[in-house]
Amino acid sequence: MPSSKLQSDSSPDTTSDNNYKLVVLISGSGKNLQAIIDNIEAGNIKASIAAVISNRADAYGLKRAEKSDIEAKVLDHTKYDSREAFDEELQSLIDSYSPDLIVLAGFMRILSDHFVEHFTGKMINIHPSLLPLYKGLHTHQRALADKQTEHGASVHFVIPELDAGKVIIQGIVDVKEDDDEESLANRVHQIEHQIYPHAVKILAEGQLEYNAGEVLYDNKPMLNPLKKQLI
Ligand code: GRF
Repeated sequence: MPSSKLQSDSSPDTTSDNNYKLVVLISGSGKNLQAIIDNIEAGNIKASIAAVISNRADAYGLKRAEKSDIEAKVLDHTKYDSREAFDEELQSLIDSYSPDLIVLAGFMRILSDHFVEHFTGKMINIHPSLLPLYKGLHTHQRALADKQTEHGASVHFVIPELDAGKVIIQGIVDVKEDDDEESLANRVHQIEHQIYPHAVKILAEGQLEYNAGEVLYDNKPMLNPLKKQLI
């Protein structure tokens, strides 16, 4: 297991600005990436993005990175013979930046156990449902079919089991009677762009820590996820 600032006793140095390093992985539009960039540029998150890596050359998020002078890299998974070969290369590329945190922001790849274990406690993801409900795909459609009155998104640590890691924060939206998949997804995206930067911020500040398998918030075990309602 790699050494990790998140797993050590030392909190990040908040006196010098933005020395907490992120690597963000994307596959598409990168709106969550943009929300994180905006919060860094506004001084709300004391961190810097060392690189944005996409498995797709046409991901619009790469342009967002370039626009903010962030290193943008493409690692095309179709050029590798196996998932393991791709993950190995991706792992080396990420390690070359020595990041404190790896942020999955719409990265549409299943990751091998070995890769995930290498980054234990240092990798987070955003999933468009109130976990543990609706792991996997088509979450908005499934929430509507079940006539849920609430839906939302969850930021969680990544573990080998899909969408099953400890949840840090959830953003909740009311489901309206006349919602369709698109209108509901739009509101979930709005709350995503609030909760993902917040999760990164509290990790960068050391308020939230992953320590030997336990998640600590204000130095105490985090029993329930933080919650935010879309108003
Ligand atoms: C988000 O809806 C997120 O929940 C899911 O992938 C989508 C990424 O969107 N994991 P974007 O690329 O950040 O716009």
